[in-house]
Amino acid sequence: MFTGKSIVKILKLVTVNVVFVRSAATDSLIPVTDHHEMSLQRLTALRSLMASQPTVLAAYIVPTADAHNSEYIAAVDARREWLSGFTGSAGTAVVTGTAALLWTDGRYYTQFEKETDADVWTLMKQSLPDTPSIEKWLCSNLTEGARVGADPFVMTKDLWTTLQMALVKANMHLVAVPNNLVDEARVHLNDLAPARPNNAIVPLPMKYTGQSAGDKIKILREKMVEKKVAALVITALDEVAYTLNLRGSDIQYNPVFFSYLVITPSSVVLFWGDGSLPHDVEKQLTVEGVKVEGRGYGEVVTYLQQLAQQEAGDGNRSVWLSCDASEAIHVAASGRDVMEKPLNLISEVSPVALMKLIKNDVELEGFRACHIRDGVAVVRFFNWLHNHLGANKIVTEVQATDKLLEFRKEEEDFMGPSFDTIAGAGANGAIIHYTASREGPQTPILNDQMFLLDSGGQYRDGTTDITRTRHMSGTPTPDQKDAFTRVLKGQMAIGSALFPQGVKGNVLDSFARKSLWDVGLDYGHGTGHGVGHFLNVHEGPSGVSWRPCPHDPGLKPGQILSNEPGYYKVGEYGIRHEDLVVTIAVTKDSEHPRAKNLRGDMEGRGVLGFETITMVPNQRECIDVNLLDDFELAYLNAYHKRVFDTLAPILKARNLTQDLSWLEKECKPMYRE
Ligand SMILES: *[C@@H]1O[C@H](CO)[C@@H](O)[C@H](O)[C@H]1NC(C)=O
Ligand SMILES: *[C@@H]1O[C@H](CO)[C@@H](O)[C@H](O)[C@H]1NC(C)=O
Ligand SMILES: *[C@@H]1O[C@H](CO)[C@@H](O)[C@H](O)[C@H]1NC(C)=O
Repeated sequence: MFTGKSIVKILKLVTVNVVFVRSAATDSLIPVTDHHEMSLQRLTALRSLMASQPTVLAAYIVPTADAHNSEYIAAVDARREWLSGFTGSAGTAVVTGTAALLWTDGRYYTQFEKETDADVWTLMKQSLPDTPSIEKWLCSNLTEGARVGADPFVMTKDLWTTLQMALVKANMHLVAVPNNLVDEARVHLNDLAPARPNNAIVPLPMKYTGQSAGDKIKILREKMVEKKVAALVITALDEVAYTLNLRGSDIQYNPVFFSYLVITPSSVVLFWGDGSLPHDVEKQLTVEGVKVEGRGYGEVVTYLQQLAQQEAGDGNRSVWLSCDASEAIHVAASGRDVMEKPLNLISEVSPVALMKLIKNDVELEGFRACHIRDGVAVVRFFNWLHNHLGANKIVTEVQATDKLLEFRKEEEDFMGPSFDTIAGAGANGAIIHYTASREGPQTPILNDQMFLLDSGGQYRDGTTDITRTRHMSGTPTPDQKDAFTRVLKGQMAIGSALFPQGVKGNVLDSFARKSLWDVGLDYGHGTGHGVGHFLNVHEGPSGVSWRPCPHDPGLKPGQILSNEPGYYKVGEYGIRHEDLVVTIAVTKDSEHPRAKNLRGDMEGRGVLGFETITMVPNQRECIDVNLLDDFELAYLNAYHKRVFDTLAPILKARNLTQDLSWLEKECKPMYRE
């Protein structure tokens, strides 16, 4: 799924001009008598803070980000949202003494206009070629010598450096403001941000992770020796969780916890909460061969500065961190603020990101197993939905979302959705980042519509992400059927592709589009993303997209990727087919439809292919078999047979006879007329 962040929802009840703002964190409604006044109040508070800095700030930048470069952010970090009232998951606000601007992309223009006060906020349409970038705008609208402020914790070093260089060229300065000025403005207005979540951490046993935390740290330390570094600083929340085999629930849909991890040759320091680690956590870590020292989450900067000072006296060793770590962590790790000669840093794609990209056998078995259980839930849901609509009962998108969750909850080791379900009926299916609104009238799913359902689950043994599109009465128009089949051909082209080991994922992207391109159709998103193991549903650094993923190390066996081409007819319907696949080495004896025809091994590099692990059939009535060649038809029938053979015994054992007969009908082989 290609959805972004959306944490706090704003809700306008237009009764007697009263506006309520709902905070997802506290779930309370805050009445505001005058929306315009509130918007101005917040800006005024920020502007007076900008003016009272040691050197006056001409502009202040508020991105949508937390200190860990998380894709989803917690309510406490939703600062741009609080300031502007705009709740979209992407956007950057820039405030000057007289202007307040918000850069966001085409997904959000309408939402922006609904949610923000047009007298106060200006929309900068990021997707239009004539819209200046933030750097350009600042350089041409501020006067020479101007100081632009930002919180260095919520910008990656790369973003910071790019902005800084642009400003310096225009004789301006980027200033790291130590306290976040939006947080301060909230204090002034007596409208405090919710507390940073600090939920319980749960140990994830070896039977799910397949590798002890001790082993992982040993490997990282070996890499540290090669790199001659004094410390490895881990800042991404999923990387901390992966390294220590722990999971949390501080960010919705993402089983992570707010923390930093610093590994040195002799210590492992976890910065979390107030620093005291729960007993069961310590116990598991001890069993897994790691002694972890706990420190308060807020102590990381001082700790890194001290480490830098020690190293400076010690020799010329460096500190290693991710280029996605914040500017503030880079500054602290180099000791720049406390030493005359700061340390050199190694700032590059994180070694933990590269490690967790390749799933071990236990993780892969978990992925396969949870996809079977997830398949059972999704099959049961679709049978339920067709039954209800067939009996002329009303089912809204929101009701469908809730029912699907009920089915998933019946499956073992289910921990919650892996993202906000996209349940789009008819034209809503064409909105790539759609979420059915729970406020106001809900949209029913109609019998004569296509229905796109993109959803996923977090399970202790893996993470799922699946999209199926179905016509509710099985009577698609010829155009719908044509597009459905072409998208499916694209998905099968990826699913059955063979390619040399080590090529980057973006090499594969055009395979998925060929059948659509043949008739002048396309889709506006990438074809695949990595998926974490009971971690984030979007995981770098590999991906399959027409845009190259800059840090993709090249495909290797053991990766999990999504395979999700689509087609969107705006205002009418959307189609997307999404499976998760495992990258596998393929030889002549492999179970792969192209294995037996292999004549070479890609000039010694080795042959890779995919194994599809998602287990839900595609709707027969929407497939034009005459558009499929022999290979595709055989491939489709083999997939449906595998789905049936895998799920049928489970449905049978659970006496789900209705679901079983539906599945049987859906998985029957198809023949060309
Ligand atoms: C910023 O500069 C551009 C180009 O000089 C100008 O068109 C625009 O009105 C300025 N915006 C503000 C808010 O001053
Ligand atoms: C540290 O680096 C400097 C300059 O690169 C070099 O002269 C010095 O010998 C190095 N010290 C150690 C302990 O390696
Ligand atoms: C399924 O039905 C059979 C026969 O009615 C019964 O013996 C069995 O216990 C049932 N199993 C489950 C899981 O409900």
